[in-house]
Amino acid sequence: MNATLPPASSVAVAEAEFTLSSADFERIRQLIYQRAGISLHAGKQAMVYSRLSRRLRETGQRSFGDYLQGLERGGSDSEWQEFINCLTTNLTAFFREEHHFHALVEDLRARASRPMRIWCNAASTGEEPYSLAMTVLETLGVSAQVKLVCSDIDTKVLATAQRGVYAADARGLSPERLRRHFMRGTAQNVGFIRVKPELSRLIEFRAFNLMSANWSALGEPYDIVFCRNVMIYFDNPTQRKVLERIHAAMKPGGLLYVGHSENFTESRDLFRLRGKTVYERV
Ligand SMILES: C[S@@+](CC[C@H](N)C(=O)[O-])C[C@H]1O[C@@H](n2cnc3c(N)ncnc32)[C@H](O)[C@@H]1O
Repeated sequence: MNATLPPASSVAVAEAEFTLSSADFERIRQLIYQRAGISLHAGKQAMVYSRLSRRLRETGQRSFGDYLQGLERGGSDSEWQEFINCLTTNLTAFFREEHHFHALVEDLRARASRPMRIWCNAASTGEEPYSLAMTVLETLGVSAQVKLVCSDIDTKVLATAQRGVYAADARGLSPERLRRHFMRGTAQNVGFIRVKPELSRLIEFRAFNLMSANWSALGEPYDIVFCRNVMIYFDNPTQRKVLERIHAAMKPGGLLYVGHSENFTESRDLFRLRGKTVYERV
């Protein structure tokens, strides 16, 4: 792993049910950093408490200390996964940062003469990859030769993405898109919408940790990568390492779309800025 995390403040979060000591919090910071590359700042004690105390309750643990000790002394893969799932932040929306989807229309048209591979690598609950799939269908039609790989470290949100069921009033969907790309629930499913099969068939879902050493599992190089609003949780050395790996997983001239507050101009040896938060792989 990269740099050692700076020490957290020694404030303990004490609530009625459990106590999160500063030592417990420090241990949690180290573990999530080692496993997921996520840098938790000192001000995140309350968030950690509320998310992990749920897991303590579910597993019948009496304290954070007991839970962490069990995890470190032979915790199962599934419990480590639960630990990670608890600590990821999954905020997303359909057509979030809409300007990217306007740019994508042009990029899809420019590359349409050959099969394309797109990777959405912090896909959360699926709104982002389905927005990509809608843009592909609207731009290139049902015969588009586009393969969309969609991944996330969090297996729970990935299951939601794969199910493709959302609240009917989900943010970011125009009435026209709702009609064209979704089926409306009836009877006990009123108030919900489900993506149509022509959208989901474009997408392959898989769990993938950006800290993984096994990037060859991702297959052939990608033309377009969406890596939005995940690098903000990583420190600079981790961001650089991930950028190098994304670079290796892309075709020369491929396009990397990043989140609105993410800036990688210091890695111009790998990616050159091509538009608003869109980089071209060197
Ligand atoms: C704030 S959401 C961003 C969702 C979407 N990309 C967007 O911009 O709307 C961040 C996502 O990154 C995922 N994530 C965090 N660490 C990760 C890692 N090491 N590898 C892969 N995904 C990770 C989280 O599980 C979460 O779903």
